[in-house]
Amino acid sequence: MKWMTSEKLLAINHAGEWGAIHFYTAQSTVSTFRFPNEKTAIESILGHEKVHFKLFDDLLIKRKTRRCHALWFWQIGGYLLGFMTALIGIKAAMVATEVFEDVVISHFDQQLEWLKTNDNELHDLVSYVYQDELSHGVIACPYTEAAGIIYTPLRFIVRILTETMMFLAKHGI
Ligand SMILES: [Fe+2]
Ligand SMILES: [Fe+2]
Repeated sequence: MKWMTSEKLLAINHAGEWGAIHFYTAQSTVSTFRFPNEKTAIESILGHEKVHFKLFDDLLIKRKTRRCHALWFWQIGGYLLGFMTALIGIKAAMVATEVFEDVVISHFDQQLEWLKTNDNELHDLVSYVYQDELSHGVIACPYTEAAGIIYTPLRFIVRILTETMMFLAKHGI
């Protein structure tokens, strides 16, 4: 794709992981009183997202790449999305997780195709992170399978919000 450069992809992924940290931080906070049995699973996902952010952050510093200007938006947007959906309940939280991770994975699919012929180092990093993101979707699966058609509007809203954050990251750097 025309807009793809290593600098942009690195900044977008860095911003996305920042959003993911806040998304799962909010879920973890709400889980304490809303669904404590799932707190451990959410914390393990959060641990992955912190590692991902650090990996992209280290590479960003090494390459002297500019951070995404919309980083603050990922922080607030990620937190609000995680918080509001978790308040509804565990099914809504996991529906949000599934959609959020699905958007990330489809963007990674596009990136990996371009990176394999343009940037080996970033390609290997995204490939590594990709596997973790897949596992996050798997954690959400048993809950989302039990979530009926009533959650369809929520899926749509979460997808629009996540894609909007992606759009801002792509065009805001
Ligand atoms: Fe991640
Ligand atoms: Fe993830």
